[in-house]
Amino acid sequence: MKIVGISGSPNQDGSNSHMIDRALDIARQRGFEVENISLAGADLSPCTDCHACRTENSCPIEDDMAGINSSLASADGIIASSPVYFGTLSGQLKMLFDRTLPLRRNGFLLKDKVGAALAVGTSRNGGQEYTVWSIHAWMHIHGMIVVGDNNHFGGITQKAANTDEVGMKTVEDTVNKLCDTLDRLAPV
Ligand SMILES: Cc1cc2nc3c(=O)[nH]c(=O)nc-3n(C[C@H](O)[C@H](O)[C@H](O)COP(=O)(O)O)c2cc1C
Repeated sequence: MKIVGISGSPNQDGSNSHMIDRALDIARQRGFEVENISLAGADLSPCTDCHACRTENSCPIEDDMAGINSSLASADGIIASSPVYFGTLSGQLKMLFDRTLPLRRNGFLLKDKVGAALAVGTSRNGGQEYTVWSIHAWMHIHGMIVVGDNNHFGGITQKAANTDEVGMKTVEDTVNKLCDTLDRLAPV
């Protein structure tokens, strides 16, 4: 089974990359195939609501999104991480989410995949919980099965994530919950 991790930050080596790398390391150690998608340097444009995904079953925008959508469609589990920007998820991650509309319109291709969310902000209470919920909203609207960290809502850290031991424990608990749920749904 495959777990795809998405780092929704424009920074290649920042806190989100650290959180997704750690989450995917744990998933790999537990026997899952993993794929790491970083939005740092990704070529992504916003959805223009042109309806082509409804009328022609295709998206006319030529950028990295076709590849990202096929990775997401091939996943059993998805773990998405965002920096908190003005109290909610990054524009980069929101752009990705909006561009997954073709997957919903053409057969709910993310339905029943297991999803989990991570967030990091510079402030201790900078909007991480709301950011996690915003990621959950995308997952619910795709019909995904959403899990938290077995305690609260998901993985929440304060920048720099690699120095936030308590926060990183919630990241680890979240990915373990994701793996546990996949194991229960389709035991190997
Ligand atoms: C435009 C912008 C808005 C931000 N707003 C918040 C905020 O509302 N709350 C907060 O805690 N941190 C905020 N930050 C700090 C980022 O959350 C922090 O730099 C980020 O989580 C680091 O992740 P990265 O290292 O993966 O890029 C903001 C940063 C930027 C650039």
